[in-house]
Formats: sequence, C-alpha cells, structure tokens
Amino acid sequence: MATTETTVRGGVCPIKSMYVREAPSKVVLAMPSTPVPSPAAALTEGPRAADSASGNGPADGDDDVDDETATTATPSDPQPQRLRGMNKGAERAHVFVAGSGDKPVFEGERNFFFGPTLSRVKIALKLDKQQQQAGGGQQPKRGRDGAPGSHHAAPPPTTTAAADALSSAPIADVTSAVPLTSSSSAAPGELAALWVVPSRDDEPPAVRRQRLFSNKLILAPLTTVGNLPYRRICKSFGADVTLSEMSLAYNLNHTQKSEWSLLRRHESEDIFGIQIATKNEWEAATVAKLLKASEFSYDYVDVNCGCPVELICQQGCGCGLWEKKGRMKGVMENLTRYQDQPVTVKCRIGRDEADPQLHKHIGEYESWGASAVTIHGRSRKQRYTKLANWEYINDCANRTQLPVIGNGDIMSYEDVAERRAQFPALSSHMIARGALIKPWVFTEIKERRTWDISSHERLEMLKKFAAFGLSHWGADAKGVHTTRRFMCEWLSFLCRYVPVGLLERLPQRINDRPPYYVGRDDLETLMASDSVEDWIRSTELLLGPCGPDFKFTPKHKSNSYASNLSGLTVSGAEVASAAAIDLVGEVEG
Ligand SMILES: Cc1cc2nc3c(=O)[nH]c(=O)nc-3n(C[C@H](O)[C@H](O)[C@H](O)COP(=O)(O)O)c2cc1C
Repeated sequence: MATTETTVRGGVCPIKSMYVREAPSKVVLAMPSTPVPSPAAALTEGPRAADSASGNGPADGDDDVDDETATTATPSDPQPQRLRGMNKGAERAHVFVAGSGDKPVFEGERNFFFGPTLSRVKIALKLDKQQQQAGGGQQPKRGRDGAPGSHHAAPPPTTTAAADALSSAPIADVTSAVPLTSSSSAAPGELAALWVVPSRDDEPPAVRRQRLFSNKLILAPLTTVGNLPYRRICKSFGADVTLSEMSLAYNLNHTQKSEWSLLRRHESEDIFGIQIATKNEWEAATVAKLLKASEFSYDYVDVNCGCPVELICQQGCGCGLWEKKGRMKGVMENLTRYQDQPVTVKCRIGRDEADPQLHKHIGEYESWGASAVTIHGRSRKQRYTKLANWEYINDCANRTQLPVIGNGDIMSYEDVAERRAQFPALSSHMIARGALIKPWVFTEIKERRTWDISSHERLEMLKKFAAFGLSHWGADAKGVHTTRRFMCEWLSFLCRYVPVGLLERLPQRINDRPPYYVGRDDLETLMASDSVEDWIRSTELLLGPCGPDFKFTPKHKSNSYASNLSGLTVSGAEVASAAAIDLVGEVEG
C-alpha cells in the first residue's frame, strides 16, 4: 500500500491521501435477484452476494458481481460531488428476505416478565403498598439529610420463615402465607421482615467485588443501542461484563412490560448488571422488592447517577440524584437492603468541570452500601465535550476502598494500556462509544493488537446481529422492522469507524473525525457512509427490502465527518438525550 504525501490533521482523523475524497463516491452493489426464502436459513447459510460485494467472494469467479456496476468508484477515480445516498440509483435487490411470520424464539434468553414472575411481582407490589399504608403514608418520612425514615430507616430485620417462604414458594403458597387485604393482621414490622432475606450466596463481599469488578472490560449501559442482540455481539468479541440499558424505576414499579424487558439477559452474559434510574429512596425500596420477587437473574444493580439529560435530571434521576446527597444515600441503602445483589454507582465528576466535587463524597459510598463506583470523567455541564479527565478519576479512586471503574473515550488497546500504566488505582475500564463504533475493540484490547478488520468481517458481524435480532424481536414483519430500526441506530455509530489500513497514524481517537474517504472495496465505502439512506440500504442486504413505509430518523445527528463539524462535540449526548426524552415522555404519560 502506498504511503501518502499529505495528511489531514488537527482534530481530524489522518487518512492516507489516496483514500481522501471531497465526498463519498456513489457505490452500486450488484445483488442477486432471487431472494433466499427464509431469514433463518439465509442467516445461517451466509450471504454469498454480500461476500462478493465486500470483495471477499468465492475465488472461483462464479459470483454475482457485475464488474461494470460494482466498481464505479476506486481510489484512482475520484468523484468530487457529494451524493447524500451513496447508493442512489442502485438496484433494490437484496440477499435476505425476512417475514416468514416467525415469533421471537428468545434463544438463550432469560428474565421474562410474564406468568408466575408477573404474579410474584404483582403480589410484591401489593405487599409494598400495604406496608406503606401500615407505615402511615405513601412515602416514608425522610430524615434531615434526606435519608429515609420510618420503616425504611429501620435496621434490617433478620430472616424469617415467611421470608424464605415468599422467595421460594409457589405463588399459591405465597398468597396464602401473606394476606393481601387491608384486613391483614400482619404488623408493619412483620411485613417489612418479609423483604429482608440475606443473600444465599456465601461468597464474601470482598471476593465477590474482586470477581465482578477487578481487571474487567465492561460494556457501558447504552440506552437504545445497548440492546440484547448488540450485547451478544460485544460478548462474542470479548467484553467481560455487560449492563442492561437504563431502566426507570418508576416504570418498573408500574409493571410496564417494555421496561422489564430491558432487563432480559442472554446466557452468554456471564457477568450482567442491570441499570436503574430512580429519584428517591422509597421508589428504590419498591423496585428492589420487585426485583427480588421477580427472581430475575443479574449480578449487580447499577444506579444511574450520571445521566446529564435535563428532563431526566429534573425528575430527580441521573445527575439530579447525584446532586441530592441524602436521597442518593437512601437509594443506595434501600437497594442494598431489599434485594440481594451488590449495588454500584455510575456517576460523573460533578456538575461543573471547573469545580469537580466527587472526590469529596466518594469516600462515603461504601458506608451507603456501594460495592463499586464507575466514574465517567466528565461533568454534567460538559456532557460529551472535551476529553474525560482521567487524572481526576484516578484521584477519586485513591479516596475509596471500593473498586473504581474508569470510563471515557476508550477506543483502542493503546487507550487502555496507557490508562492502566498511568492510573493504577483503577480496577476496571468501561467502554461506550468505542464499543459502538468498533465492538471488536474488546478483542483488540485482550490481544494487544490493532485489528484491520475487513468489510467482509464487519458484514458477518451485522449478519449475526440480524440473526440475534430476529431471535429476540421476532422474524415476523414487526420483528424484522424492529431489528432493522435498531440496526440503523447502531449503523449510525458504526459508520464512524475508519479502517486501520486507511489511517496515516494509529490509533483512531474517539474525537477525531475523518475527512470523506473511499474504502478499499465498495462495501467498506458503503459502511463509511453517514447517510440514512445507506444505512437502510445496508439493512436490506441482511433483512430484505424495507418497503416504502420504513422511515428512520436516528436518535442523534451523526457528525461523522470532518467537514460536517463546527466543533468536536460528540453525537452520543444527543442520542442519550433523545432516548431520555422518549423515556420521560412515557413516565409523564
Ligand atoms: C448512545 C448512548 C447511550 C447511553 N446510555 C446510557 C445509559 O443508559 N446509562 C448510562 O449510565 N450511561 C449512558 N451513556 C453514557 C455511557 O455509558 C458512557 O458513560 C459515556 O458514553 C462515556 O463513555 P465513552 O467515552 O466510552 O463513550 C450512553 C452513551 C451513549 C453514547
């Protein structure tokens, strides 16, 4: 590969000049006209035509690529004019057709919210209400520092036979053991005791912390994009720990099925945390009781204290909770008290980066019941602007005995190696956008290498996502639609990956933006497109034609390319923001 004479620098990803173009070139991918009959078969047999398009097709030459149409753009044939959709005019042929009417098969999944689980949760909810009424009101009184008073502040009662019965007995036994009507003769203290069942897990806390949070690569919680099929992909690339998308305690406490389904876990997720956003200690107490009653499988509960989205904060969640110390303490205490698994905090460095406050409080978190703290090294005000402050993260880690997980801007094995060397106080590392842009970053870190992944391998990854999506959301029209929508969401991040072979200098940094470029084959060029039309086109390679009614508006504006930028702000904040607005809308509705 020839080296370059010129390089684009300065917040702009340096790409070898032979690939740089003023705008993406139009790519026409020739596809077979005969569709594969069933999505399942198609996804297991492999995309022959897609292989061809990626330049990795069968060596015998018996492929479907039409030479004239397949290579309309090459590095030596620049097309200066920017076309919004690189595939405008491309024939709408496709490889896979979905729509066989298949329902989700939920392969390898658990944590379902129906049947006995739902019944148990409903009973737990009634008991909780009854307990609150018996305690004299809907919400427990709060102490001066905002800590819960009345029954929630009482020291945890000891195990009772009733508690054991509740957690293990079939539903009929539970209802008979605990009267649910207001004529219940159970005293408030006895009812409270029902919820306090010590963990059956004999593992000492220190050993458990070590097992869960020491030297781990953690996939961050990611609203909308961090769905189960995507997490399976990250697991296959070597993520050690995964987290659910953020779920709102309010919605869980209102038995909203869609919220509970965010807590679904795949069997490959061997260490799995669920993330909860909650505004106060009594909401936290209820959700903890429901989680326990659900018997859902998870390894820890993470409390979202870092979401900067205004609407979430106004509700008292995210950064809004973190800024109310007393409430946060009550939340931690009640989550620890009323369910069995360890509780962790995810927060930012403070409200304002000029005056970060976390170092003043982090030492207290252990006494509130926390088992670990994740620090995203930016302030609430900063959202995603500027780089994360890892010196400060390390400083905070030195002020607590808890494992501290560092988070911010990791996108390569070099990023992790540098941080491991410079900030030894940190136990583990969490990756968000880096894992959206290149999920194989986990492999790179573990194998200490840079992976010049081919467009064919990337397509294989998308193919797996399609298969996982159809299993999770269903292979009927609705499931295909949902899979397509979430694939588009993810593609809006994936397109920001710049292939290693095109880079003038390694590694690609998270805040770098490339100039427009052409890839080494048409599929690579297609995958670099920041056009919604091309993302849809890519989904058609795997899921069949989307039909005229499919509309996709990304939850964020994809500022993928240097020429689009007025600054180096990152679109992720807008994604989280848009997603959060949706969620708050549900809360208010
Ligand atoms: C699309 C998107 C969704 C996110 N959703 C959540 C979330 O649900 N809960 C949370 O605590 N953080 C969320 N975050 C923040 C990330 O977990 C992470 O803290 C942040 O992006 C910084 O890490 P990074 O620099 O590796 O991206 C989200 C970020 C993005 C980009």
